[in-house]
Amino acid sequence: MTLAAAAVLTATVAFAQNLDAGKPPAKLFADGCATCHRSPRGLAKGRFSLTLTWFLKDHYATSSDSAKALASYLESMDTPPRAAAKPGARSSRSAPRPPRPVQGQ
Ligand code: HEC
Repeated sequence: MTLAAAAVLTATVAFAQNLDAGKPPAKLFADGCATCHRSPRGLAKGRFSLTLTWFLKDHYATSSDSAKALASYLESMDTPPRAAAKPGARSSRSAPRPPRPVQGQ
């Protein structure tokens, strides 16, 4: 009886550890990251996938499998709109406004 119980327990723990690995990265992101990062876009920032995997493993994901999956997911979402980064894009930014004059003092 005790042995069987132990076996069941071990199996349960192993299953629990593998739960994340079975999820698609989009779900991992929605579950674990979307609270703080609204969108997976722009997170990879053109990093190497290895660097990104390390970062994710270090900071968030528990298993290296899900870190890898997340890293490639972020990369796939991280198609920077290079065409939009035109040299003249800066000038379109609105100039800083002068401070409002202080009145009644
Ligand atoms: C509790 C809030 C929180 C959660 C949850 C969270 N992050 Fe973050 N994340 C941050 C903050 C704050 C930063 C910026 C600080 C830093 O770079 O360490 C950051 C930075 C990052 C960066 C680096 C971006 C950069 O600009 O250098 C990546 C990539 C990233 N997170 C991915 C993820 C992924 C993937 C998940 C889910 C597994 C996740 N984050 C979950 C708060 C969070």
